Amino acid sequence: MVKICCIGAGYVGGPTMAVIALKCPSVEVAVVDISKSRIAAWNSDQLPIYEPGLDDVVKQCRGKNLFFSTDVEKHVYEADIVFVSVNTPTKTRGLGAGKAADLTYWESAARMIADVSKSDKIVVEKSTVPVKTAEAIEKILTHNAKGIQFQILSNPEFLAEGTAIQDLFNPDRVLIGGRETPEGQKAIQKLKDVYAQWVPEERILTTNLWSAELSKLAANAFLAQRISSVNAMSALCEATGANVKQVSFAVGTDTRIGPKFLNASVGFGGSCFQKDILNLVYICECNGLPEVAEYWKQVIKINDYQKSRFVNRVVSSMFNTVANKKIAILGFAFKKDTGDTRETPAIDVCKGLLGDKARLSIYDPQVTEDQIQRDLWMNKFDWDHPIHLQPTSPTTEKKVSVVWDAYEATKDADGVCILTEWDEFKSLDYQRMYDNMRKPAFVFDGRNVVDDDKLREIGFIVYSIGKPLDPWLKDMPAVA
Ligand code: NAI
Repeated sequence: MVKICCIGAGYVGGPTMAVIALKCPSVEVAVVDISKSRIAAWNSDQLPIYEPGLDDVVKQCRGKNLFFSTDVEKHVYEADIVFVSVNTPTKTRGLGAGKAADLTYWESAARMIADVSKSDKIVVEKSTVPVKTAEAIEKILTHNAKGIQFQILSNPEFLAEGTAIQDLFNPDRVLIGGRETPEGQKAIQKLKDVYAQWVPEERILTTNLWSAELSKLAANAFLAQRISSVNAMSALCEATGANVKQVSFAVGTDTRIGPKFLNASVGFGGSCFQKDILNLVYICECNGLPEVAEYWKQVIKINDYQKSRFVNRVVSSMFNTVANKKIAILGFAFKKDTGDTRETPAIDVCKGLLGDKARLSIYDPQVTEDQIQRDLWMNKFDWDHPIHLQPTSPTTEKKVSVVWDAYEATKDADGVCILTEWDEFKSLDYQRMYDNMRKPAFVFDGRNVVDDDKLREIGFIVYSIGKPLDPWLKDMPAVA
């Protein structure tokens, strides 16, 4: 029986290993983590992450061929294949601060693997890492090898949160990079055999190590670039009277471009896009390619611009001040169908409004109050560290209340900001909301989910990203 161990029981490690266990009953999978609370949650009925379909997969395999444990060393020792899916945050200090990937967690995992191993192993990079990381990992492993053979593979994960289980069941592709030596090819084949149990052969791509590592950074950069491109257009639409929905539909019908990932919004979020692009920028700079670095940097700049543009719209529409006004925030997760708030645009928008002294009442169907308070209080990049190393949230943050109902959030509010595209926000009773708000009542739709005409009929002043401006907004000061 092949034994797999995955170090890191997070958004990637948990779901990917659960699906491997489900699809490969003859493989034993152990998911290990240094966070006791995370492992306890994986072993309970309340899993640590919300992902449609995940509960079901875990329930089918847990205790049979899927185990969650804090006994990291034991499971690494026993494994034939060790996946490493630990955090790779952006460095906050020292060389490359604010851009380069911090490989502290990766390095400590690699050293531990070297220390406890007594048999040959395949070590798989599942985390997103800078290109050439495998070389460093190889050095750490072989320096302490005691005659043991380690083969490093790069097998970046392309799942999207919110659709992770679907993506893992039916991936566009699985990418495996390895050394171009007979041993490297043998290791690739062994991992390929695992995926081949449910993924069609032609969708399992094999490359050299560096192509696999770089492909993941490149894919995320391309995806984020599409969002920044349409968001840049949204600003121009507002200035000219064009409608970004019509423009992106027209653009997306070109088969060379395609319709996906062309929704204008308040900005992209999630743990990966910004981190991976910053990392790509750093790698370009280190390789003497400042023009290429500058090109990708713009993707992040537009994203930041889009968030501050949204805040400026809110403030300028409401007579240039939101001080002591109650603003309801609907949605805090970085997208629908996840409780993940890492780098969610809601953080920057809320901080911007708080900076102008607004009072916020926040509702998200999947994000806890503790998480929201922690996010609004935490320093940039602190989130991407194991949970027990993160600062705890302050006990009181008077300007922010978190409620469990959209109507409660909007009661007596002056404005509503929709920051996540949860389906339920489409079918809220906006008349009821309007009746309970102060007038004039504003809706700022950062995800283009509401029917703006209907809301205007009710009496709202509506701002929808990239759509022709409400007459009210046209007369307000220009947005920087
Ligand atoms: P996460 O923060 O949810 O999980 C990482 C886990 O690793 C944490 O539970 C942490 O306690 C654990 N950990 C850290 N150091 C450890 C050590 N030495 N030993 C044992 N456990 C350790 O992070 P997530 O989202 O799962 O991401 C992991 C990697 O996968 C990152 O490199 C990320 O960029 C990449 N990735 C993430 C995707 C996503 O959608 N979240 C998609 C594709 C890749």
